Amino acid sequence: MVHSRPFGPVTTRADDLWGAAPDLRPSKGTGNRFYLEFPDVYDRFAANTGQTVAAVHEMFGFAGKVLLDVGSGTGRSTFELAKHARFVVGLEPWDPMRAFAVERLRSLRLRNVAFVRGAVEHMPFAPHSADLIVSFAGFPFWFVDAGERGRRLGEQFLADCDRIVRPGGSVVAVGGAPGWEMGEPTPVLQSGPGEAKRVHERINGRVHAYMTALGFAHRDVFVEGDYGSVREAVETYGFIYGRRTIDYLLTNNQLSVRWKLRIHDRPVHSQ
Ligand SMILES: C[S@@+](CC[C@H](N)C(=O)[O-])C[C@H]1O[C@@H](n2cnc3c(N)ncnc32)[C@H](O)[C@@H]1O
Repeated sequence: MVHSRPFGPVTTRADDLWGAAPDLRPSKGTGNRFYLEFPDVYDRFAANTGQTVAAVHEMFGFAGKVLLDVGSGTGRSTFELAKHARFVVGLEPWDPMRAFAVERLRSLRLRNVAFVRGAVEHMPFAPHSADLIVSFAGFPFWFVDAGERGRRLGEQFLADCDRIVRPGGSVVAVGGAPGWEMGEPTPVLQSGPGEAKRVHERINGRVHAYMTALGFAHRDVFVEGDYGSVREAVETYGFIYGRRTIDYLLTNNQLSVRWKLRIHDRPVHSQ
């Protein structure tokens, strides 16, 4: 079913949004219905992206570099990267997320950003065309719970990175640290019944194990997502994580959420 929203066409079926080139479609299960139908809410939710990208820039130095941002979503990470890098390409499979990013790119009139339709399973980039491949709240979340197939997809992704990234470059993937699945209230939210507990329990621990097995090192940083008002926090962070997070925000009159993030990196083995 396809219907209209102010930000473009929306569908409840991921398959409708891929269309042509079915051989290049992302793995089943990576078309999360939330991203497909509410890209605007996701964009408002991702309030800590500026601080997160700044922390990674401090570690890896983006100045003068060409970056590939995989799982670029509504472009939050891509536009922040573009403040530091020479050029950034955002790779995103799903049309509503990418359409949102392209629309914003038009209004920002940036000349050092492009968005490409694609998925990490099939990266359409030439050998040695990037200095770094980065992913914010993207790789490897789609693959971690997919067993042997997920492990193979991770290895294939790294082989592609080794082909695409120039010698001396790295692959950098950023997500929450174990126990911080929903930011600072995670222990409270996971300690009782409720939807947030069931959905988000401990995935970051599994991500850590998956990344370590693939040869990634890691460092942790703290960042804060500031929503500016309790209402904005409830409408975005609360919308995503459910009733108990809304209770938490209202009880604590909370305008911002603190996060411990894990920055995973692996130097490429260039070919
Ligand atoms: C949590 S969002 C992160 C967006 C952005 N990086 C940010 O920091 O705001 C993850 C994005 O990964 C995309 N995605 C899902 N499966 C993917 C795949 N197989 N390859 C690349 N991106 C994928 C989703 O559509 C979604 O837009």
